[in-house]
Amino acid sequence: MSLSLSGERPDPPESAAEGVWLACIECGATFAPFEAVRYTCDDCDGLLEVRYADLPTFEEFEGRKLGVWRYADALPFDEGVSIDEGDTPLYEVPTIEAETGVADLRVKHEGMNPTGSFKDRGMTVGVRVAEKLGVDRLACASTGNTSAALACYGARANTETLVLLPAGKVAAGKVAQASLHGARILEVDGNFDACLDIVSDLADRGEAYLLNSLNPFRLEGQKTIGLEILEQFRDQTGDLPDRIVLPVGNAGNTAALYKAFRELVQSGALDADEVPTLTGVQAAGAAPMVEAIEEDADEVRRWDDVETRATAIRIGNPVNAPKALPGIRETGGTAVAVSDEEITDAQRALARDGVGVEPASAASVAGLRKLRESGEVAADEQVVCLTTGHLLKDPDAAATAGADPEPVPADTDGVLEHLGE
Ligand SMILES: Cc1ncc(COP(=O)(O)O)c(C=O)c1O
Ligand SMILES: [Zn+2]
Repeated sequence: MSLSLSGERPDPPESAAEGVWLACIECGATFAPFEAVRYTCDDCDGLLEVRYADLPTFEEFEGRKLGVWRYADALPFDEGVSIDEGDTPLYEVPTIEAETGVADLRVKHEGMNPTGSFKDRGMTVGVRVAEKLGVDRLACASTGNTSAALACYGARANTETLVLLPAGKVAAGKVAQASLHGARILEVDGNFDACLDIVSDLADRGEAYLLNSLNPFRLEGQKTIGLEILEQFRDQTGDLPDRIVLPVGNAGNTAALYKAFRELVQSGALDADEVPTLTGVQAAGAAPMVEAIEEDADEVRRWDDVETRATAIRIGNPVNAPKALPGIRETGGTAVAVSDEEITDAQRALARDGVGVEPASAASVAGLRKLRESGEVAADEQVVCLTTGHLLKDPDAAATAGADPEPVPADTDGVLEHLGE
């Protein structure tokens, strides 16, 4: 099975339910979507993808309210467990645009979702599937944002949630969210990849329903980032973007955006040459996808030791790589690694343009800067950088990147004297 842009559309198998089914991206086996809990292929353990008998054009989205469920025609349901996720702003960033010297630069700020990250888009769909399957416990491994979103949407669906976090490596805002929304939080003495191994085992043993991005329904919700970017960019500029630059951890968004665009090409809504170039950015201390792209490898090698201050993307085994590598390659994209200093610098630059993001999000802008310097991104390009999480997610990183407060006496003269110094 190839995940090419021009791939053929198979007829629905008998197991399809209302025109929706699951297909293995490796061997092509198909499965009923909601009859049993299933995350990977029964036959070869390959990743599964949600497939549809009908794929929408832009016209079908019109007339619906904004947000994830505007795109119901591209999703398995008409409604999800929703708290009005999606419809995030696409900002102009004049200073960074001028500094990088591209024709047009916008920032899609996914930190403006209800729990402060793009994960809400996947959860509104994924938790709806959990309801349909009738499971009674939801679980995820997380670098933080997934746990916050799962806890929130699980609470909304009145379902127990369990989250496994790498001890000491999750930003404060995210733990606070998971805690207040009522998740049971297990701190694992290991990194994110170890957490995912454990929670996958728990899911295989029937202990919980897995809502990491290995779950193909999560990526359906995240496709709407791509759909929204195209609609907003066209509204704002009259054009479609040439390139989308995004941070990469498990490569779920890379896979999801590619799927969104592939489906638009298959429905005839988009020409293959209109699909934006997908450009992934990783932290240098956790860059297995960059390594695979640079070495033109078929598979990604798992990195056992990963480190970066962008803790959201401190991931050494990107589970969606088999879906994401074709996305980068088929769109003519690339992947680049950036240092922690470059990430913090980009976080400051975004803040100066009024956009407050957490470190992982700033990786996209750091990557764009680097690719402009190397000439890989051309001056005539229209570019969207994806920022995935809000500044307040990681208050410690923000405080470190920003200026220190200055102590002053409690009187006006004293304050004036201090300002004059
Ligand atoms: C803020 C932030 N950015 C980026 C990512 C990575 O996204 P993906 O796993 O889709 O590559 C994550 C995921 O944990 C995240 O929380
Ligand atoms: Zn298979």
